[in-house]
Amino acid sequence: MKRLTCFFICFFLSEVSGFEIPINGLSEVDVWVIEPQGLRFLHVPDTFEGHFDGVPVISKGQQKAHVSFKPTVAQQRICPNCRETAVDGELVVLYDVKREEKAGELEVFNGYFVHFFAPDNLDPIPKNILFVIDVSGSMWGVKMKQTVEAMKTILDDLRAEDHFSVIDFNQNIRTWRNDLISATKTQVADAKRYIEKIQPSGGTNINEALLRAIFILNEANNLGLLDPNSVSLIILVSDGDPTVGELKLSKIQKNVKENIQDNISLFSLGMGFDVDYDFLKRLSNENHGIAQRIYGNQDTSSQLKKFYNQVSTPLLRNVQFNYPHTSVTDVTQNNFHNYFGGSEIVVAGKFDPAKLDQIESVITATSANTQLVLETLAQMDDLQDFLSKDKHADPDFTRKLWAYLTINQLLAERSLAPTAAAKRRITRSILQMSLDHHIVTPLTSLVIENEAGDERMLADAPPQDPSCCSGALYYGSKVVPDSTPSWANPSPTPVISMLAQGSQVLESTPPPHVMRVENDPHFIIYLPKSQKNICFNIDSEPGKILNLVSDPESGIVVNGQLVGAKKPNNGKLSTYFGKLGFYFQSEDIKIEISTETITLSHGSSTFSLSWSDTAQVTNQRVQISVKKEKVVTITLDKEMSFSVLLHRVWKKHPVNVDFLGIYIPPTNKFSPKAHGLIGQFMQEPKIHIFNERPGKDPEKPEASMEVKGQKLIITRGLQKDYRTDLVFGTDVTCWFVHNSGKGFIDGHYKDYFVPQLYSFLKRP
Ligand SMILES: *[C@@H]1O[C@H](CO)[C@@H](O)[C@H](O)[C@H]1NC(C)=O
Repeated sequence: MKRLTCFFICFFLSEVSGFEIPINGLSEVDVWVIEPQGLRFLHVPDTFEGHFDGVPVISKGQQKAHVSFKPTVAQQRICPNCRETAVDGELVVLYDVKREEKAGELEVFNGYFVHFFAPDNLDPIPKNILFVIDVSGSMWGVKMKQTVEAMKTILDDLRAEDHFSVIDFNQNIRTWRNDLISATKTQVADAKRYIEKIQPSGGTNINEALLRAIFILNEANNLGLLDPNSVSLIILVSDGDPTVGELKLSKIQKNVKENIQDNISLFSLGMGFDVDYDFLKRLSNENHGIAQRIYGNQDTSSQLKKFYNQVSTPLLRNVQFNYPHTSVTDVTQNNFHNYFGGSEIVVAGKFDPAKLDQIESVITATSANTQLVLETLAQMDDLQDFLSKDKHADPDFTRKLWAYLTINQLLAERSLAPTAAAKRRITRSILQMSLDHHIVTPLTSLVIENEAGDERMLADAPPQDPSCCSGALYYGSKVVPDSTPSWANPSPTPVISMLAQGSQVLESTPPPHVMRVENDPHFIIYLPKSQKNICFNIDSEPGKILNLVSDPESGIVVNGQLVGAKKPNNGKLSTYFGKLGFYFQSEDIKIEISTETITLSHGSSTFSLSWSDTAQVTNQRVQISVKKEKVVTITLDKEMSFSVLLHRVWKKHPVNVDFLGIYIPPTNKFSPKAHGLIGQFMQEPKIHIFNERPGKDPEKPEASMEVKGQKLIITRGLQKDYRTDLVFGTDVTCWFVHNSGKGFIDGHYKDYFVPQLYSFLKRP
């Protein structure tokens, strides 16, 4: 949930604790947050143990916030007559933005772009997880107690679809179970009892423990026991270097890499100071994971849980970011093994502004039940304007964030460099970039200069705070006296529009003749053989559900639920389709489209899109394409298609409400058993229209029509087709059947009421 921008706003004040802090100096911190997307929350945790109660003054608006940390000289003293300063710790500002767009936020400026991606309402992917816990002698006491406590909560959080086991190791390797077990309540309870009984003692054989964990996962997979759509994870918790078995770190690293074969993510938690944290980092970096270090004893448990929470909910696999244009270069890591709930992926890159004034991105990923393709298009239009409006906005933020990510990546590469020469080369690039972009790294120092020209080293290799900023890197902008560290993330106001990839269905002009229902429900039935449009209205009440198509043989249902206008107009309350339901029985897929969201349910899992997305979702034979604020197209095997148009009205309109229109081409291959208000016309009835004559209204001639053995009086009029012009519609002429289609439709319109959005029509 927290933005990567946390990197920017963790001020490590501990480095300056030895200073006599002048009131205008570093004891003043101003943080401006500027987010056009809107702030969901902003929070300044108390990291000074109550000493600065009420000192960070927070003013927060919808899109902007200002945090001001300005303790008086007296407040800065640790006690009234002490000279020591209490400004020793971190000022952390946590916030998150309101997110809407599934394809993320693509911010483009000045030749650089930054892409934030943090979708959250997805179903979790089942995980296969092995906990590998160091129980050597050094874990004895508080550390072990805290680990056991954390593990108990962690195990309780496993989902029934997950599979797991626990390995505890010292010089020997023990397992709770030798293979993966599904996380039922009984098994979890058993594992908890096992962990409680562990007595730490002896040495540390990390090599064997990891190889065993990998073996258990691989074997389960080779036996076909793993869900092909699951993810495999190892969580290593250790507090020391190997003392038994393979001791050479590079050899362990090699063994692990060789056995993991790219399909397991290894996460490592290093406890305390005895552990070679760089080794754990290399181990994890190389195997799609991350490492974290925790210090201290008392809150080990909560830190362990926090660490686990980052990986407890896999939402996507194989997430790939593509920027198809050739003038996009220097893209940071754009390929991610997993995406976990609560995190955010950030990708940045360069482009040539002379050649491009917009950036297109295509994200592909696999979720628990669908294959996603999300496209975004970002333009630079409003950004300049936006930046100029706020003096705290940093027009260079895209470049700085790009540099920050690139350096971070280089540091990871450096730690894995195979030769000394390669390492030197990477070091040189890091140094150059950190100087060019003013970013402090473990390889550089930050020097400040006061007015007298004295220089002081302020920070080198700033401390790492596991709860805040992973990666030994710290982004300080101008940390010099008389200039407050300012930061802002001026993302452009929604310049993002999303497009659907492969949207031929949407882009090509729709077939000229379809069956459709628009407002009030006006039905327009096109009869291809007689080449006539026949129209009728259904006047009913809000809440009622009408069956449009019910095809028991192909297992397809389309129903529409009515909503009413805000008030009657000329004594009549108009009704519209506010919600449409599609049920594809053979696929067990239900799709609900309202004027707010588009929700696909498959079995017990659901996936939602909003009308502000442009996206394409494929689930088995069903494909849904959403074109932002316009149309949703559902196709089944490309043989059947349904289009749903969104009609937005002015929000404060006194009478009208948003509504949906549905279009069904007559080429859809329903079975002869298909029925419903529209479905019945898939078998075209014979009609005979004759005796055309002037009507009461000279503009609207009358005629007689013979259909289904009845003779009806019909009136010629115009109806709107909104497919090409969503606002005004285009007029189509049609013959109008009065009395809710009586005589033209089978039976009475009330025969088409169904109880639920996905009910088949019961025929008498
Ligand atoms: C990883 O891939 C290898 C090679 O395809 C396979 O043998 C192994 O079972 C896989 N492991 C897991 C956990 O999927």
